[in-house]
Amino acid sequence: MMNDAKGLLDLAHLAAARYLATRDERAVMPSASAIVALAGFHGPMPEEPSEAESVIEALDRLGSPATVATTGGRFFGFVVGGALPVTVAASWLASAWDQNAGTWVLSPIAAELEEVAAGWLLEIFDLPRDAVVGFVTGSTMGAFSAFAAARSALLRRTGYSVKQKCLNGAPRLRIVTSEELHPTNVAALGYAGFGLDDIVRCPTDAQGRILPETLPALDDRTIVVLQAGNINSGACDPFESICEKAEAAGAWVHIDGAFGLWARASRAKRDLARGVELANSWSVDGHKWLNLPQDSAVYICRDREAIDDVFGVSATYLMRDGRRQPNNMTPELSRRARGVEFWAALKFLGRSGVERLVDRCCAHAKRFAQGLEKAGYEVLNEVALNQVVFRCEDEARTRAALLEIQASGVTWLGATHWKDRFAMRISVSSWATTAEDVERSLAVMIRALRSVRAGPRGSSS
Ligand SMILES: Cc1ncc(COP(=O)(O)O)c(C=O)c1O
Repeated sequence: MMNDAKGLLDLAHLAAARYLATRDERAVMPSASAIVALAGFHGPMPEEPSEAESVIEALDRLGSPATVATTGGRFFGFVVGGALPVTVAASWLASAWDQNAGTWVLSPIAAELEEVAAGWLLEIFDLPRDAVVGFVTGSTMGAFSAFAAARSALLRRTGYSVKQKCLNGAPRLRIVTSEELHPTNVAALGYAGFGLDDIVRCPTDAQGRILPETLPALDDRTIVVLQAGNINSGACDPFESICEKAEAAGAWVHIDGAFGLWARASRAKRDLARGVELANSWSVDGHKWLNLPQDSAVYICRDREAIDDVFGVSATYLMRDGRRQPNNMTPELSRRARGVEFWAALKFLGRSGVERLVDRCCAHAKRFAQGLEKAGYEVLNEVALNQVVFRCEDEARTRAALLEIQASGVTWLGATHWKDRFAMRISVSSWATTAEDVERSLAVMIRALRSVRAGPRGSSS
């Protein structure tokens, strides 16, 4: 049975179908015993082959119980989507194809689906239709790609080629951003050769939006990094005024829209990201709000020349013709065909389906905020998008309530610091979350508040 593809796929299919069918019954976080059982995977490198079925069987027996149920409707931690079933199925087929999406000739289907999905994404976000769209693993790599392009473009205008001379001796560029910048952008800036000393951090308002009047004078050696969707509040920076100033000064604006750029898909929400189209580059995840399987994101960049300068590869066997050559747009050559899942989700949902997905998550977030406030929690952000930040009356009770909620098995959310206060954060990003999931989760949160108020700390104060 070693190479019986059909038998193995059937086995995996059964296990996966069983997993998804029991998704709503399983605890959101794996049990302690499921974690302990992971020891079953550890051991010396096997000398001899194993039966292929036993490999899949072990993955299901030991692996499935140790998963975090992020595909279910009651996981609200971090910002994580839930993989629409159609995208999981598309991903299976694409795995069977096992396409190398690096070049058109190596996979016409991968390149063409990227091209189609790229066009649809530009339409949904209403961004320049001739922008480059590169398919990467996540927003971190999307931001890295965009920063590398920005670096190339700004330095080339001074007559300096990073490609030719590296960064040693290059004119210094400056990064202007807010104190609220998502930390993965700082990592991405590091990959692109920028240090912490190159970053100027500006203060923000109560929702974490950069205060435009605090920006230093911009110039043509500045990269401004803004956010569509603050990780805590969900708020967007004021793009319009800053992008206009940046353009006049010759500065580059990049927007981290990991989840918040999807607000553009909703007629009710798109105004929150007003002016986002004026930037030079953007990064946005598919595996968050579009609910694609991990790991999928794109960066979008107006400057085709800069992308080619950074990622363009020349070799006789790597053809460069009029067709899409994905390897000339991303840091990798060989990679999986991410465009398949983007295409499948967009084809399945259509423009109206993406809008409904975004609107539904935002409505659930609003319901959470109302229910939490009514119960006596303090909601710390304006809930305009899909994020809710809330706390009890003090840090000790907030920590205790969080532990109780996390231990419930019914729902899960994480901790954060918001404007110097310890808090809990809900992100509603999954297609799978229903109104019933929200009510069940709210009930756990409300019970936790009562319990910490009635508990030893509550009664002693
Ligand atoms: C606002 C924001 N930016 C960037 C990232 C990084 O995205 P990824 O994990 O896909 O690299 C995240 C992830 O949570 C995020 O929420």
